[in-house]
Amino acid sequence: MALVTHASTESGPPPAVPCILVVFGATGDLTKRKLIPALYNLLKGGLLPKEFAVIGLGTTDIDTDEFRRRISTEISAFATAPLEPEAWNWLAERIYYVPGDFTTSAPYERLQPVLAEADRKHGTQGNYLFYLATIPKLFCKIVELLGAANLTQQENGRWRRVIVEKPFGSDLNSARALNRDIRKILDENQIYRIDHYLGKETVQNLLVFRFSNGIFEPIWNRRYIDHVQITVAETVGVEERGRYYEEAGALRDMVANHIFQLIALTAMEPPGSFDADAVRDEKVKLLRAIQPMTPEDILSRSIRGQYGAGLIDGQSVRGYRLEPKVSENSSTETFIALKVAIDNWRWAEVPFYIRTGKRMPRHATEITVQFKRAPFQLFRRTEVDRLHSNQLVIRIQPDEGISLEFGAKIPGSSLRIGTVAMDFEYTKYFGNKPSTGYETMLYEAMQGDLTLFNRFDGVETSWAMLTPILDLWKALPPRSFPNYPAGTWGPPESQALIERDGRHWRIIK
Ligand code: BG6
Repeated sequence: MALVTHASTESGPPPAVPCILVVFGATGDLTKRKLIPALYNLLKGGLLPKEFAVIGLGTTDIDTDEFRRRISTEISAFATAPLEPEAWNWLAERIYYVPGDFTTSAPYERLQPVLAEADRKHGTQGNYLFYLATIPKLFCKIVELLGAANLTQQENGRWRRVIVEKPFGSDLNSARALNRDIRKILDENQIYRIDHYLGKETVQNLLVFRFSNGIFEPIWNRRYIDHVQITVAETVGVEERGRYYEEAGALRDMVANHIFQLIALTAMEPPGSFDADAVRDEKVKLLRAIQPMTPEDILSRSIRGQYGAGLIDGQSVRGYRLEPKVSENSSTETFIALKVAIDNWRWAEVPFYIRTGKRMPRHATEITVQFKRAPFQLFRRTEVDRLHSNQLVIRIQPDEGISLEFGAKIPGSSLRIGTVAMDFEYTKYFGNKPSTGYETMLYEAMQGDLTLFNRFDGVETSWAMLTPILDLWKALPPRSFPNYPAGTWGPPESQALIERDGRHWRIIK
């Protein structure tokens, strides 16, 4: 993987190769909030090629001038770095717009001359990166029409790649069908299934942390680790995304992709190299080792919740069922906790407890690796009668960092033990780099590095594990929703899930 090598070189990574980024869904949220600000950050970081252009396709009937005007206004709200007019103008002058309905051939015909002109004017050499930032049901049709317009064929050294946003399918069958259909048109190595969690620095750092430090790998297994917890907590509700979320729910929205990727990176075996397929082989191997759940397992090891009205940061907020475009008796889950078992030599009998929810008291994504207790409780007679277990906490966001907690003697004449931490904070060492989380993914796709993108078998394996849960939940609609007030850590059953094993969720302050 390029990034790992970059980190150790002094000169930093080179600009990406010449290309045009073609965004389907250019008037949508993702483009203005993430993609354009990410391109600006890449430009400022010296990572955009000089030979570059963006062509946006959207259903809104406007021309390039109007699109540039809109984007130039919106960027001030969404940029993560101060805008420098000269740099912004450089980028804005390379942005074009083609209107049309993507399910018909007309916009693809209109796109051809715009691509040719941009190639000529900006020297982009016929390399096209298509980004499907549309609603998922259009993914397949767009790829078909790109193929029919002869825009997916790679010849004479020119490449054609397609970034597919999440969600990739909504269950095993739909993911399989989508894979099958787009692979009729594209080679697997032209397909970049994106999961923006893999673009986060701390997520990538998991691999570096595990595999470039000799001290952790020997203890990274069932002999020393008691269990692992993964929490992805958000304080926000569903905001304006009710229509999408009603169909998705927390399991499809967060677990099938982001959380399973975090499990895979935490638990996979060391790959033979950082080549895309070597890393992806190991990730898929791990995902395949996740124990399938029987209906009884699902009933006892999965907890779902939906937020009701409550308080976030002292402000009252409404319940999920009163959010815009949400049904008043919705049974969509906004919280899920799961106990996951991994059937392999490294992880047998080491549970992975995961939980994710909207309207939690804190915004925090973290992985906690809890080590086993010291084998003999020497300090039984002191004021602290139980030694704390060592915890390694990998904070993905916010406050990115890693801390290792251990027991230390509290100064004084009696023998008292407190928990202290060795703490590494990203920003202290590396400063604050403006980021939307999409920079790395765009850069890697331009460079043709698939390591951080999901392969078809990884996606299907995740759905194979989760689809039985979706099916059972559908058959047994929840009776107690809403079952947690906004601003709490989910329904009480989530605590019970871990506490009945004699363990506790880490308290996130
Ligand atoms: C998205 C989900 O993939 O991830 C959202 O669709 C969620 O519901 C978001 O809010 C969280 O991403 P991040 O980067 O803010 O943790």
